[in-house]
Amino acid sequence: MIKKWVEVSQAAIEREGFFSAALSGGKTPVPLYQKLALFKKGLDWEKTHIFLVDERFVPFHHPDSNYHMLKDTFLDQVPIPRQNIHPVPAGEATAEIAARKYEEDLRTFFKSSPGKIPDVDLILLGMGEDGHTASLFPGRLPFNEPGQLVAAVMLDEMRHNRITLTLPVINQTKTIIFLVTGKNKAEVLGKVIYKKDSTLPASLVAPKMGNLIFLSDLEASSQLSYHKEGSQGDACRNCCRPRRV
Ligand code: 6PG
Repeated sequence: MIKKWVEVSQAAIEREGFFSAALSGGKTPVPLYQKLALFKKGLDWEKTHIFLVDERFVPFHHPDSNYHMLKDTFLDQVPIPRQNIHPVPAGEATAEIAARKYEEDLRTFFKSSPGKIPDVDLILLGMGEDGHTASLFPGRLPFNEPGQLVAAVMLDEMRHNRITLTLPVINQTKTIIFLVTGKNKAEVLGKVIYKKDSTLPASLVAPKMGNLIFLSDLEASSQLSYHKEGSQGDACRNCCRPRRV
């Protein structure tokens, strides 16, 4: 995964002069963030911009805040300029206001006029056992106006409300990577890859022009067939050969 980060970031910087990545919360990517934290040098942090795929509507210091987790595991350890970090403004009065302000942040950064979807270079997604990804939950996909970049997601009393990038933004991204680990994800990963079950939001991730990559450990891949590098089987989207993450 680090190799992919290096490759995608270098290519983006050569092409556009900067690299933009949208990162997910959850437990799965934590070891990756800890590895990135070791790259004090060797990656061009001055030209790297970090966005969040989604956020819980909680204050920044809250233990459930994705921004808090990213800061702790990674962002505070690398020389990335503060202005290159784009947290969701979860301190706003409502999740809807936070979503609107985050959309403004994205539009300003990517210079994208209303109706235009920005091209993020890399997005890192997780997957829930129920097939959710980002904060797009089965049966609860936020209603999006055409061209809407960020949405508020109202959940039940037991869960924090969320703010999430919308599917059009995710699908416009140049490189989309799903990181999936653990045997509890094996069934859903099989359904997303082979059945493309449209009731599962993770199945709706389909880049318009970019690459879709699944990186999974052996447990999560236990219901996938192996393909040797280079031999693409019928069911293989990109390559579902299990890899170490
Ligand atoms: C979040 C997410 C969410 C996550 C999945 C998987 O902030 O929680 O963006 O979509 O990626 O729930 O979470 P785990 O990695 O903890 O299994």
